[in-house]
Amino acid sequence: MKILVVGGIGYIGSHMLKRFKETNYDIEILDNLSSGQKENTLNYKLHVCDLSDKETVYKILSEQNYDLVMHFAASINVEESYNNPKKYQQNNVINTINLLDCMKNLKINKFIFSSSAAVYGEPEHLPVTELHPFNPVNPYGDTKAEVEKILKSYEESCGLKYVSLRYFNACGAHLDGTIGEMHDPETHLIPLVLQVASGRKKHISVFGDDYPTPDGTCVRDYVHVMDIVEAHILAMENLTNTHKSQVFNIGNKKGFSVNQIIQMAKEITKVDIPIKIQGRRKGDPAELIADNKKIMNLLNWNPKYSDLQTIVKSAWNWEKTLKIK
Ligand SMILES: NC(=O)c1ccc[n+]([C@@H]2O[C@H](COP(=O)([O-])OP(=O)(O)OC[C@H]3O[C@@H](n4cnc5c(N)ncnc54)[C@H](O)[C@@H]3O)[C@@H](O)[C@H]2O)c1
Repeated sequence: MKILVVGGIGYIGSHMLKRFKETNYDIEILDNLSSGQKENTLNYKLHVCDLSDKETVYKILSEQNYDLVMHFAASINVEESYNNPKKYQQNNVINTINLLDCMKNLKINKFIFSSSAAVYGEPEHLPVTELHPFNPVNPYGDTKAEVEKILKSYEESCGLKYVSLRYFNACGAHLDGTIGEMHDPETHLIPLVLQVASGRKKHISVFGDDYPTPDGTCVRDYVHVMDIVEAHILAMENLTNTHKSQVFNIGNKKGFSVNQIIQMAKEITKVDIPIKIQGRRKGDPAELIADNKKIMNLLNWNPKYSDLQTIVKSAWNWEKTLKIK
């Protein structure tokens, strides 16, 4: 099977490529290098191309016989999405339509999409099942919900078969220490906390300590990036075998508060981590936890690395290599 990994040299995509090295799949990458690192290609062929350039995307797809496309490419900064919603519409929605149109014309009909828990917004019940209504509370979440609706319409109109994987908080780094999270600017809690521990940042901002949670800080479901990529392998195999579209939550069904993360980081790094309490951010639900029964039952997915210690330890090992660079 020949697979095109779009956005394959970013944080999650690079872990996917490493996992593919253990398989016989024929892999190529398409990426515009906007936030991906060239050194992450692992000798797979990289097509440097922006998804907005539909003509080139079509040419790349038409010159190869891809069976399936995995789509990691997106703009992912929630705060930026408030300030520049047009960028998010263009990159996350319109560029995805470009890709789907090229696939449609070439009769490539298998697609794995990186969706997000952001489609749910403020949850009406916990843990959140896949049947929870879409209620995104920021423009980034809007774009993911929109693409999911578009996928449905492509299935109806041209027989596209897809799996939409709604990641909760992706985190951690490869256990071999060679790759990890490196967003610029970084907005995710765990790498930011560890940047304080390594001395790259002075303090960690905690946005709100008056939420209705046990310690007043927000609770999230953290899932190790290596467990996320395993879900992709299982989803892809299931799609190939059943030809049935699916939507799955990728979460750990456990919540940790911001304070618990900081505490674990202190224990692992043995460094004091100064915190600054700030006001709540708009669009931050108090608690977001995945119901992961569907993927566990249907695909036999079982998170192996998503305990908090493994997550923070692996991210800390990675942060130490970044500090040295
Ligand atoms: N990181 C998380 O916690 C998280 C949570 C939920 C969902 N997701 C989704 O997972 C996916 C991957 O996230 P990530 O953290 O690896 O992001 P990332 O920014 O590290 O990787 C995105 C990759 O896509 C490429 N890219 C972006 N726009 C492109 C374009 N127009 N054309 C070609 N390439 C383009 C970038 O260069 C980069 O290599 C995204 O779709 C994101 O929305 C991430």
